[in-house]
Amino acid sequence: FECRKSTMWKYKEFMPVDESKIVSLEEGGTPFCKCQKLGDELGVELYVKVEGSNPTGSFKDRGMSVGITKAMELGVDTVGCASTGNTSASLAAYATRAGKRCIVLLPSGKVALGKLAQAMFHGAEVISIKGNFDEALEAITALALQGKLYLLNSINPFRLEGQKSIGFEIVDDLGWKSPDRIILPVGNAGNISAIWKGVKEFYEAGFINDLPMMTGIQAEGAAPIANAVRAGKNEIVPVENPETIATAIRIGAPVSSVKALRAIYDSDGLAETVTDDEILSAQKLLARTEGIGVEPASAASIAGLKKLVETGSIDKGEQIVCVVTGHLLKDPNTAIDACVKPVEVDADINALLSIITGK
Ligand code: F0G
Repeated sequence: FECRKSTMWKYKEFMPVDESKIVSLEEGGTPFCKCQKLGDELGVELYVKVEGSNPTGSFKDRGMSVGITKAMELGVDTVGCASTGNTSASLAAYATRAGKRCIVLLPSGKVALGKLAQAMFHGAEVISIKGNFDEALEAITALALQGKLYLLNSINPFRLEGQKSIGFEIVDDLGWKSPDRIILPVGNAGNISAIWKGVKEFYEAGFINDLPMMTGIQAEGAAPIANAVRAGKNEIVPVENPETIATAIRIGAPVSSVKALRAIYDSDGLAETVTDDEILSAQKLLARTEGIGVEPASAASIAGLKKLVETGSIDKGEQIVCVVTGHLLKDPNTAIDACVKPVEVDADINALLSIITGK
């Protein structure tokens, strides 16, 4: 397998796969943007890891590359997942590339338009579930246990093996050192567990001497992990009817909650909740101060950072990496609803002058 060094397969020695079977769309190697203006405003040294720059526009591609490679090794013919959107978009693309049948279950009416378009367009068999993500995941897991398909949700450990490369890259991007803190949105809790695994592997290999404080942000209406951390508990109480505008993380019973709690506690990290309003303001703030367009769930990391700075939980001067998980265009409706519609005029110089000068 030949890969360009700028992809996540730069670290293939750390990936548990048969190299001859790798299915890749050149995922990983995403931008690592220093955010000077926003960092100065908040009094921290801020970097943003832009996962929306992956092939299908989210970090899921890293996990899916490894997961589908496993499906090739195993020789399965059908793969499937339940999804709030991004996992299905990614799986649809990678399954096609691997020549596999792909079945995805989506919570009806709660998947952002761009993600739905991707899943359908790449040829997945999309089924809309009358219920939320947690119910869809339970249903697809039952099908997988009956041997009907190979499950590629993050309960599949090979997904996490791919996503741990975010941790590798952050360390690499910083010049082979750990940041003080990594902040990211938490939904099904796979990604925070995966990144923690990645940085620990580099620590154990002797590449870095410190570990980052893992900091997970959840939407107020879907916050079982933040609730557990607040109560100092080692297990979650599922949220019955999770609700948030950030549909990607509209999850009440995260499958990787135990691993995520361990990551937070073991790293001396934090968990925090943010409101939908805080998420939408942070999304706009990042887009308009730094030019980085992300979907609402991803903006939870910035909203969380802001809140933790304001409450004094984060020290001034900390070196922080916020992982922004999905592209702005994943959820075009939420973006458009947050803006003033363009005025329509003739292509006439006087009409234009009156608008741009406000006279
Ligand atoms: N950000 C985005 C954009 C996501 O799509 C997700 C999860 C997360 C954050 C949370 O990551 O689940 O590993 O804690 N989306 C899944 C999906 C659930 O189906 O696309 P997590």
